[in-house]
Amino acid sequence: MADLRIVGRALVGDRLLDEVTVEVDGDLISSVSVGDVGSGPRLLLSRGQLLLPSATDIHVHLRDWEQAYKEDVFTGTSAAVAGGVTTVAEMPNTLPPIKSPSALKERLELLAARAIADYAVHVGALDSVKDAVEALELGACGMKLYPADLERLEDYLRVSRQSGMRLVVHAELRGGDEQEAVRMILSRIAAGDDVRLAHVSMAESLRMVELARGELAARITVEAAPHHMLLSREALDEESKKISAVRPPLASEADRRYIFSGLDGCSVDFIASDHAPHALDEKMSDPPAPGFPGLEVTYPLMLTEWLEGRLGISTLVKKFCRAPAEYLGIRKGEIRKGFYADLVVFDTKTIWRLSAKDFLSKAKYTPFEGRMLSAKVVSVFRRGELVYDGELLVKGGGVHVRELGQKTR
Ligand code: NCD
Ligand code: ZN
Ligand code: ZN
Repeated sequence: MADLRIVGRALVGDRLLDEVTVEVDGDLISSVSVGDVGSGPRLLLSRGQLLLPSATDIHVHLRDWEQAYKEDVFTGTSAAVAGGVTTVAEMPNTLPPIKSPSALKERLELLAARAIADYAVHVGALDSVKDAVEALELGACGMKLYPADLERLEDYLRVSRQSGMRLVVHAELRGGDEQEAVRMILSRIAAGDDVRLAHVSMAESLRMVELARGELAARITVEAAPHHMLLSREALDEESKKISAVRPPLASEADRRYIFSGLDGCSVDFIASDHAPHALDEKMSDPPAPGFPGLEVTYPLMLTEWLEGRLGISTLVKKFCRAPAEYLGIRKGEIRKGFYADLVVFDTKTIWRLSAKDFLSKAKYTPFEGRMLSAKVVSVFRRGELVYDGELLVKGGGVHVRELGQKTR
């Protein structure tokens, strides 16, 4: 007898099935069957509810340390689970930054004590192969380069090649030119490299990647953020200009459409929120701080795109759940026997108005304020444990993904 059976409509592989029994034993999915089968405790989904894998967001800024007034590990990962995200990968531009094995170690200790979601951490640009090897041993999931690091891209590519550390690049030159940055990066990538481009925002950038993939025997992957897929700069008034200020900036409507279509095409590999909270007065100052919270809105926003017919559901789950989990080497992101029971129940029948005042993030604003959404998170399971059901049910328990890597049954 399983610990729990969840019975109802669910996405199994690429198929949406009306009645499925997902059995959960301990932290794993122990069986997936058609119909209402088995015995033992049962969670019966109501009409309009839908069971999906919870998401893995590989680009978040949880702040904390000297920027705990913007967000901390607890509030940021609480926001994650409230948004149906049970695994996050952090970016290293904290204060102080995560730019050494010792800073990484300290960060992992903080996360172990405070995180609600499971987690991974990117390190910042490291000059030495020795440090990169050490960071990998600690479990770093990649090395993140910022615009200021791009002048020394060759050095970091060398560190990456010699240590085996993957790169993630914020592709903008100092002046803010994404296309030039992407062109430069692609011209330096060699066979065998593994480079992920963060938050790509322009059609031309994505076209260059599409071409380069055909020519280079390298792994080049692309993240797209919901704001670059759903918003463009054209429709912004003065106040929303400040709230929606972000790096790279919102682009044109044609760019937006092209990036969005890269999901159902195959040029965009990952959906990632770039959750980048700031205090409200920092957003309202001149110039406004770039970035805004995204963890609580990404899954409901993108699922609404499916419900309204603009996106395939298996594409969404592939790019926000399965592919990022694979990138981190964990068996999550699919409702399948032997995978972790990281699951989310959505209500897909109630239309609701998005309001940032309800966020668990400290940053209570969003460029999507007031949007009508047709998908709402009802409950969230992290490795078989109910961690959210309209409110947060746990105080911690997030685990470093490295501890989850080997487990299969
Ligand atoms: C991010 C931040 O605030 O840390 N801001 C942003 O506009 N995207 C930095 C980043 O992801 O480059
Ligand atoms: Zn960035
Ligand atoms: Zn970022």
